[in-house]
Amino acid sequence: MKEHRGRLTKDGIRIYEQSDFAGMHTAGALAARILDDVAIHVFPGQSTAEIDRLITQMVEDAGATSATIGYKGYQHASCISVNHVVCHGIPGDKKLKDGDILNIDVTVIVDGWFGDTSRMYVAGKLPRKAERLIQVTHDALFKGIEMVKPGNTFGDIGHAIQAYVEAHRMSVVRDFCGHGLGRVFHAPPNVLHYGRPGTGAKLEEGMFFTIEPMVNLGRPETKTLADDWTAVTRDKSLSAQFEHSVGVTADGVEIFTLSPGGKYHPTYSS
Ligand code: MF3
Ligand code: CO
Ligand code: CO
Repeated sequence: MKEHRGRLTKDGIRIYEQSDFAGMHTAGALAARILDDVAIHVFPGQSTAEIDRLITQMVEDAGATSATIGYKGYQHASCISVNHVVCHGIPGDKKLKDGDILNIDVTVIVDGWFGDTSRMYVAGKLPRKAERLIQVTHDALFKGIEMVKPGNTFGDIGHAIQAYVEAHRMSVVRDFCGHGLGRVFHAPPNVLHYGRPGTGAKLEEGMFFTIEPMVNLGRPETKTLADDWTAVTRDKSLSAQFEHSVGVTADGVEIFTLSPGGKYHPTYSS
């Protein structure tokens, strides 16, 4: 029997209990610590398969479980999305080149709680255009997080992100979204990274979800490669993404996936 906690809203969004925040903090902190620790392993000549192998080991050493290994047939502990890959990049033997930018996305399960986070890295020297893209994407995530409080709506979050990104003449990916999580990996609602103020479900204390905007330097359209996972920009433009898992509190937000080492952004000075 599946375990049920809290209650569901009329939109099917689970409202967790105050005491459930602790489990989310523990899971989120582990995912974030793994992203801290992997930074020194990102350099030109390194393969993304080796980075994933190290992440798999870190999850195991922590006594945790990878949420992605075995998820819908996915076989890796991370998604590693290089340059024009938008998300769900599969780790492989191809080596990183100087100036490549990459998102590493890790989801772990600790005591049944899911912690899901991603951030950007660079191999070698960061190209100027990529630096701008990464900065805008990071700041757009925080524009979204700033809207998280009871009474605001999911449309407020999406609108804040979209307005910020488009003011910088970049585009928000529509084909992928954030999601509720908690005792499960992907649950209602779909957290869109675009939208109109005041639309969508109202935020309530006890909701747990991710915000994970993908931003392209060019057009927003994506396509999925023949491997059925790798999503790339149709126009081959560079893409970036940051992701946090958050919980709605009585008066705002708690971020479950804050970097223990204060290295969420930039990662590329370590
Ligand atoms: N961590 C991703 C997310 O943010 C999901 C990856 S599913 C996988 O929702 F199977 F591709 F790993
Ligand atoms: Co996610
Ligand atoms: Co993720």
